[in-house]
Amino acid sequence: MNPRRTCIALVSGTATGCAGVQSSLEPAGTGAHQLAQLFWWMLSGSGAIWLLVTGLCAYAVWLNPKPYARKTARRLVIVGGVAVPFVVLSVLLTYGLTLLPPLLASPPAEGLRIHVTGEQWWWRVRYATKDGEVELANEVHLPVNEPVEFLLRTPDVIHSFWIPSLGGKMDMLPGRETRLTLFPTREGRFRGACAEFCGASHAWMAFDVVVESRAAFERWLVGQQRSAQTPVDALALRGAEQFTLLGCGACHVVRGTSARGTVGPDLTHVGSRSSLAAATLPNTRAGFRRWLERTHQVKPGARMPAFAMLSPAELDALAAYLESLE
Ligand code: CUA
Repeated sequence: MNPRRTCIALVSGTATGCAGVQSSLEPAGTGAHQLAQLFWWMLSGSGAIWLLVTGLCAYAVWLNPKPYARKTARRLVIVGGVAVPFVVLSVLLTYGLTLLPPLLASPPAEGLRIHVTGEQWWWRVRYATKDGEVELANEVHLPVNEPVEFLLRTPDVIHSFWIPSLGGKMDMLPGRETRLTLFPTREGRFRGACAEFCGASHAWMAFDVVVESRAAFERWLVGQQRSAQTPVDALALRGAEQFTLLGCGACHVVRGTSARGTVGPDLTHVGSRSSLAAATLPNTRAGFRRWLERTHQVKPGARMPAFAMLSPAELDALAAYLESLE
């Protein structure tokens, strides 16, 4: 590759990394705003210092290469090497520390609380409602301009819960409950990710985040509380029978049916989610088929067995049923 092309590829790669659904530099929450601010301050500060030092080097090497008097040299070292770094680092440290308290603050008592458990390799999400808890997977909906507290757990390995567009990350530790408060300030769809290596499919452990108005959020939550509808379509109906026959209900819940397993993700409204398999596949019939047939190619090490032994017709029916669970 010629150097010019390499340079363009590097610059465009870096620039596209600054925007999008998973970027700390395009903030949509107060925590991310503060982090982005800190980042730009640090970047401008270090850029300015770099220019100054490079300028001084150029001056000393090319413009004024004669030796300095001992006294001047010593003064340069004390001012430039001790005093200036001390002042600059103290200011930056103080500024960084002032950003910490709001990031660690607890939301008001009546704020929204969401329980998230890191599983291998997906996210179990539970909302408390007036009528009890409702569980879903790999998708989080939040009302805009309201604080939300995440209560984070994991049964086995360490994960780290991170929605870069909204704020900082928080580790999920076995045997402990950690907490993270976020405050989304802009509606939109964002992407969360696991930020701590947790096993073979760590890179395939993401989730979708929807920030919406209070009214839209409440409508969504009411929808999530409903039981699954019996499909009307003949193919999907055949898929529902398959689902029972194959024993899928031993690991998955489909509320309103005999499927009551809690090992895997709750599938009651899986068809309505933004994506499949922890944001690794599109939520389409083809996506479901791919997941059922090639589970371990999509997600190495996944606990779910692949159903590659099914005929294309059976896979289609099963995919149609899962897609119908909206
Ligand atoms: Cu979970 Cu990395």
